[in-house]
Amino acid sequence: NGIAVHFTNICGEDETKQTNPEVFRAMESFEARSDDVILAGYPKSGTNWVGQILSDLVATFEKKRLEEKSVNDEELEEFPYLEIGDTEKYERMKKLPSRRVILTHLSPEKLPKSIFKNKAKILLLIRNPKDIATSFFHFSNAWSALPSYETWDDFFIAFMTEKMPWGSYFNYLSEWNKYAADENVMTITYEELKENQTLGVKNIASFFGISLTGEELRSVIERSSFQSMKENSLKTHGALGSMLFRKGGVSDWKNLFNEEQNEKMDKVFEERIARTKLGTKLKY
Ligand code: PPS
Repeated sequence: NGIAVHFTNICGEDETKQTNPEVFRAMESFEARSDDVILAGYPKSGTNWVGQILSDLVATFEKKRLEEKSVNDEELEEFPYLEIGDTEKYERMKKLPSRRVILTHLSPEKLPKSIFKNKAKILLLIRNPKDIATSFFHFSNAWSALPSYETWDDFFIAFMTEKMPWGSYFNYLSEWNKYAADENVMTITYEELKENQTLGVKNIASFFGISLTGEELRSVIERSSFQSMKENSLKTHGALGSMLFRKGGVSDWKNLFNEEQNEKMDKVFEERIARTKLGTKLKY
């Protein structure tokens, strides 16, 4: 399908060739709005989860605000990932009503400049790199559109030598570190959201200026639980659903990493990330 084709275009051995140049050229015409709701997260950091929370928060709030005016006109629905699509995508996005919820796996230097210029708010989602690698390994081998790996050891080498679709997670964190203190950027970790989803959802809503009743918030939280998203995944994500909603937990890396791999990643994390703003926030 179209999504798979464009996903493949973004993958590549060489980080500099990871994207489909035509889609990227077309993306330059994307004009962010100050009320866009942007979710940035490296692949496998939980973007579908937080994407569901954000679209549900926005849909509930906007419906209330506009008193029944349709905000989710089906014709105007667009695949939410900014960089995944065809070259016409950005024209269609111009017609989407506010507030638009836009997801991206891109690091900030690859994003359209208008996102920063027009002060769109960005929620940055980060996750322990060990669990990201674990999730990515299983997903790569499950989905034929991605390169598959004979063994976990092969995948680990690719992850650590930064030959990944969307590039290296360590570079991703380094680049986003430059924006982590901006007032228009809020960072949340997968782990803190998992530990206390109610608090996380409340903080997210407040950052985007969304106020809901306790009952409305409870519904958003219930609909975004792992259980509920997994149960609905065939409807919401088709065949990809069973691959995407895998375990939804913390520390599954312990089932894959050997001691040497663990030490290797700890060393890179310590050298490059640990003492940065995002590094201190990450539950590593
Ligand atoms: S993708 O393919 O990059 O868009 O994947 P992404 O959605 O970013 O990340 C997939 C992982 O997020 C987990 N997930 C959840 N965790 C907790 N709660 C909910 N509701 C939820 N939904 C998705 C999903 O299970 C993947 O992690 P793993 O560790 O593989 O289970």
